[in-house]
Amino acid sequence: MKTTRGDFPQEINLHLISYLEMLQRKGIKSIYLTPPGAVHEATAEQKQLSGDQERSVAKETMGGIVEKLSEVDAKVSVCEDCGLHRGRTNTVFGTGNPGTKVMFIGEGPGRDEDIQGKPFVGRSGQLLTKMLGAIDLSREDVYITNIVKCRPPDNRDPQEEEVRCCEKYLIAQIDLIRPRIICALGRVAAHWLLDTKDSLAALRNRENFYRGTQVLVTYHPAALLRNPGLKRGAWEDFKQLTAIISE
Ligand code: URA
Repeated sequence: MKTTRGDFPQEINLHLISYLEMLQRKGIKSIYLTPPGAVHEATAEQKQLSGDQERSVAKETMGGIVEKLSEVDAKVSVCEDCGLHRGRTNTVFGTGNPGTKVMFIGEGPGRDEDIQGKPFVGRSGQLLTKMLGAIDLSREDVYITNIVKCRPPDNRDPQEEEVRCCEKYLIAQIDLIRPRIICALGRVAAHWLLDTKDSLAALRNRENFYRGTQVLVTYHPAALLRNPGLKRGAWEDFKQLTAIISE
């Protein structure tokens, strides 16, 4: 096989170049040279440290992420970049484990979330918690957030300007947490993340990426409450998620 620099077969280099060009066209100006999740793995230097030293370096790294996330949260809490701030009781930033491999993204806070300042705490949230339990995960094992951090009035879909204003916060969360996979909950989250209007069925059945991170699309828990017949499909999606995060 013909090889070039770095012993990559030439055809892989060509694929890589066209992939990078596609990212550039989408406005992505920088990419990580380490795979997602690598921040949570031991570095070469860490591997040479004693167990105690290693744990303290890992803790510091995680401590840094937690601190930066709270800085972003503080900015969100006073954000007035779009009209949604006028109707909010609380901003809803995100909760869970910043060292997780999986980040769940819904569309936006509802009434209960707006009151409590936490994502997915109403009926949909209770179902999400149960679904996580079915794959042996708790809410503390994962990270949960939304496309927009303030409640849209009457639970309407977030509008383009609102999503554009809020995207910087979601990007900051993803860049800090660097999950192995994002799970988009429902049509609205999937459409905004993947910049498409394709059907949920199509999106559930293909490999998707948001800024280089794999996105698994599944039903919104509210849709499962309205139509329990969809639960079988959601279960398939969750099994796929388990397989990916146990790789
Ligand atoms: N629905 C969402 O999309 N997000 C929440 O936080 C709650 C309900």
